Amino acid sequence: MTPVAAPAEPLYYWDYLRLDQLLSAQEPRSEPVAHDEVLFIVVHQAFELWFKQILFELDAVLAVMGQDVVAEKDMGEVVARLRRVITIQRLLVDQIDVLETMTPLDFLQFRDALIPASGFQSVQFRLIENKLGLDPRHRLKIKGLSYTSVLSAEHVARLEASEAEPSLHDHVERWLERNPFLSFGGFDFWRAYRESVGEMLARDRAVIEALPTLDEAGRAAQLRQFEATVAGFEAAFDAERWAELVRGGSRRLSHRAFLAALLINLYRDEPIFQLPFRFLTALVDIDEGFTNWRHRHALLAHRMIGGRIGTGGTSGHEYLEAAARHHRVFTDLFDLPTFFIPRSALPPLPPEVAEHMGFRYGSPG
Ligand code: HEM
Repeated sequence: MTPVAAPAEPLYYWDYLRLDQLLSAQEPRSEPVAHDEVLFIVVHQAFELWFKQILFELDAVLAVMGQDVVAEKDMGEVVARLRRVITIQRLLVDQIDVLETMTPLDFLQFRDALIPASGFQSVQFRLIENKLGLDPRHRLKIKGLSYTSVLSAEHVARLEASEAEPSLHDHVERWLERNPFLSFGGFDFWRAYRESVGEMLARDRAVIEALPTLDEAGRAAQLRQFEATVAGFEAAFDAERWAELVRGGSRRLSHRAFLAALLINLYRDEPIFQLPFRFLTALVDIDEGFTNWRHRHALLAHRMIGGRIGTGGTSGHEYLEAAARHHRVFTDLFDLPTFFIPRSALPPLPPEVAEHMGFRYGSPG
């Protein structure tokens, strides 16, 4: 006789969500307890939970993008995961409103009990930065020290490991470099594009030279700015000059990857580029989402502690504003529009190339 299995306990909501643990993890440090410290803890914990979810999504994206060949069908899922991250980011910014129902004076009631702990020690936030691909050379130092100097040995090891792994930026660069459409058989796209750009720039120069509303000084200033744009275009078509910019830290993507990103953006209406275009746009959105969060958080810090230093020992809101400017990842993608030309000026694709880029449905029979 086969033994009858004991009926499994029906799943209970409280147990499934481990609410015993979750709801007993809010322990204020102030004595007597400052009313707003509970809010302060809950908001930070909610942030950390969302950071966890973002890391979960990023790990899934990294696993797909780290493959030698990324199947087109996987890209739809990658974009969906990134869009989820973007939606969470909006929530993170809005969540600050809840914390701002606490006044600076109420914060002062328990702030000293927190020293030297600070969001600066948020390991999950640092992991997100590293997995996205924040360039370690761009990280701001505090009194000459690395961001890891305030962390436990275990956390330092975790972050150093994440710095050593290929980031999303690395994977995106390699994926772009593999774009097969950079050379179109017999059609020299880049020569045709440069000619179009040359004509556009000649028109722009003629406009500045003829503009009646400009005085001589104004015209000279505009022309100087114009020459800088021309120099930017020239570097974009000179692999060696581009490599110099990468070495100097003002560009990050390789020349080939940059050209592929430009191509995808310029010809994003072609069916084969629509998903890659949405992917690149999602990366820009994520960078913008964290930059928004950083600015918003810097304002929060300013209104809560004024010009004081942070509990973690930085200059406070000034450091946070500087981090918002410097700690960006996909800046080359943000700069792409510098190199855009109107659709009407784009070199038309030869029919055999256009055919390659479209999905065709054969007629039956
Ligand atoms: C009263 C509210 C808050 C104030 C006054 C505040 C203030 C600060 C300050 C001054 C810093 C710079 C480091 C330091 O010197 O301590 C900092 C860093 C940080 N805080 Fe907050 N913060 C607040 C709320 C939050 C919340 C709700 C989060 C969500 C997790 C958070 C996450 C962070 C992170 C991730 C950093 C590191 C930022 C970076 O280095 O780029 N903070 N905070």
